[in-house]
Amino acid sequence: MIKKIGVLTSGGDCAGLNAAVRAIVYRAIEAYGWDVYGITNGTTGLINRPLQYTKLTREMCDSAMLRSGGTRLGTTNKANPFAFPTAEGPVDRSQDFIDGYRELGLDALIGIGGDGSLDILKRLADKGDFKLVAIPKTIDNDLGLTENAIGYSTAVEVAMEALDHLQPTAASHQRVMVLEVMGRDAGHIAMAAGIAGGADVILVPEISYRIDTICAKIRSLAETQGRNFALVIVAEAVKDEHGEPVIVSQKWERIRYGGVGHYIGDKIAERIGADVRVTSLGHIQRGGQPNALDRIIASAFGVHAVDLIAQGKTDRMVAWQNRRVVDVPITDAIQGYQALSLDDVLVLTARGLGICLGDQ
Ligand code: F6P
Repeated sequence: MIKKIGVLTSGGDCAGLNAAVRAIVYRAIEAYGWDVYGITNGTTGLINRPLQYTKLTREMCDSAMLRSGGTRLGTTNKANPFAFPTAEGPVDRSQDFIDGYRELGLDALIGIGGDGSLDILKRLADKGDFKLVAIPKTIDNDLGLTENAIGYSTAVEVAMEALDHLQPTAASHQRVMVLEVMGRDAGHIAMAAGIAGGADVILVPEISYRIDTICAKIRSLAETQGRNFALVIVAEAVKDEHGEPVIVSQKWERIRYGGVGHYIGDKIAERIGADVRVTSLGHIQRGGQPNALDRIIASAFGVHAVDLIAQGKTDRMVAWQNRRVVDVPITDAIQGYQALSLDDVLVLTARGLGICLGDQ
């Protein structure tokens, strides 16, 4: 008998998280009369003592929440309970989380996260034998078995708009504009935004490139179209010419990418003497208001997640497939990690448009 459920957001934030929480609150209260507790700052809210949480009401979740960016519950991507960071090094605090779940008297938990967070939540649920339903969110869109994760669509739109802003100034100054975008090890954001924003060159980690090929493309724009500006979009995990990742830092195995836009820009400037400027979009892709698609997907996911708990169907992740909300085993979604495949419709479309992907 379910009476009380918890919800937490975990990992990097993105647009649409609040819309999902709002949908959970509405569905749980209106359809089933349950209490909903929002856990503060991802898993840390149940690890810390006193416990950190808020009882969520419909009044708190009005439409301002639907349209707001970030996550009102707070989140973290640095507090793995199995290796919790302390001054003395990582410590296993998974039992504290499980004890916190019991202390709060929860009957089930909805975890909204990407592959890393969902893996951790699944391990916690297995260890603590509690009911878990997962909702996929990640601007990287790399979770398996779902065509869309919350946050991806907005991130693509932001990157596309950046190209919209860069194009006129590129044309005015006859420059090559390089835009570096996020996506971790997958090139989904770069490929989608590159097509939507009219990029001439799209570089993704799944396709190896040659600087000569990129430069030949930029030169050919002048020769064949009389055009002396170009737009290049680069995914953050694209490696340098020696196959090394371009990173800002690395702490406890977690790499922070950053700088490949400047690397590619410098190479283009050196090789063909172009006037190059580089923009790194960074966290602008994660904040801001969710677009319509993210609000819709988040709402549909929230409703379905609550219904799954009501049906006693847990250890499932809600997913978007062929414009339907379905559910899949959490493990299968994590293990089905999806990079950009070479026969993806976006890759074929880019090639069909004559966009240079760096390889030919
Ligand atoms: O996974 C989402 C993401 O935004 C990646 O695209 C990016 O590499 C990373 O998180 C940035 O993490 P942080 O917010 O810790 O800098």
